[in-house]
Amino acid sequence: MTTIAVLGAGKIGEALLSGLLSGGRRPEELMFTERYEERAAELTKQYGVRAVDVPTAAAEAEVLVVAVKPQDIDPVLDELAPVVSDRNLIVSLCAGLPTGLYERKLPDSVPVVRVMPNTPMVVGKAMSVISAGKHARAQHLELVEELLSSVGEVVRVPEAQQDAVTALSGSGPAYFFYLVEAMIDAGILLGIPRNVAEKLIIQSAVGAAAMMAETGTHPVILREAVTSPAGTTIMAIRELERHGVRAALLAAIEAARDRSQELGKAHEA
Ligand SMILES: NC(=O)c1ccc[n+]([C@@H]2O[C@H](COP(=O)([O-])OP(=O)(O)OC[C@H]3O[C@@H](n4cnc5c(N)ncnc54)[C@H](OP(=O)(O)O)[C@@H]3O)[C@@H](O)[C@H]2O)c1
Repeated sequence: MTTIAVLGAGKIGEALLSGLLSGGRRPEELMFTERYEERAAELTKQYGVRAVDVPTAAAEAEVLVVAVKPQDIDPVLDELAPVVSDRNLIVSLCAGLPTGLYERKLPDSVPVVRVMPNTPMVVGKAMSVISAGKHARAQHLELVEELLSSVGEVVRVPEAQQDAVTALSGSGPAYFFYLVEAMIDAGILLGIPRNVAEKLIIQSAVGAAAMMAETGTHPVILREAVTSPAGTTIMAIRELERHGVRAALLAAIEAARDRSQELGKAHEA
């Protein structure tokens, strides 16, 4: 049995607790830390998981999942430093924080695994991308993969690729929301009532996502299958190309990667 403590049970922390319980972990194997008593009581009532302080979490849990906002990390590291050891595994869900930050602030040889999750974790459909820090071994990565697979898919990359990952899957859901929003506007333009347009576009998005995920067929093949000669879809595609949508996506994702690198510099030694 691996005991897991979630440090900071906000949206992502709660989603992880909930996913771990749905995946078969027992409430006794889980605990969390939280600043506000009211919020802590609410979570304990809902999930049957206990709220603890950081020293208790470090003493009783092998895995410490850090799920506070990146700007709140300093007090958490100050609390962890005197109480963690190499029998703990730190799993950081904090966007942009390098494993080196933890390695500098925590005692020598504490293993750290960095994760870039994304918000679909709240519905059990996260894309979590993990990287090993200096002291993390194969068994640590395997354990993190097992934990996060209860809330979605998991992929490993070298830590140097985490800024690109942040731009792709970290921010990725926002690009799809943006696209859906624009397509709903198009429905309004064509005189379709908003609630109907929303239903048509959201279900089309869900259907298209399921086809890609479940059939394993490449998106190009799926698109070609609905693009008939001189048909309606190719007329729309011509306009997307004319307006540079593909180039805009390449530039947008590159800009997000650059911003992630810039934010990360604040935490370099
Ligand atoms: N790729 C993505 O889209 C993505 C998505 C989500 C999250 N993330 C990462 O996941 C992490 C959590 O994000 P979130 O959206 O879940 O944020 P959130 O809802 O603000 O959750 C953070 C939680 O930590 C608590 N907290 C802060 N300092 C604490 C401390 N010293 N001790 C105990 N609890 C403390 C906060 O309490 P208060 O309410 O009192 O502040 C809050 O409940 C972030 O680091 C973020 O970068 C990435």
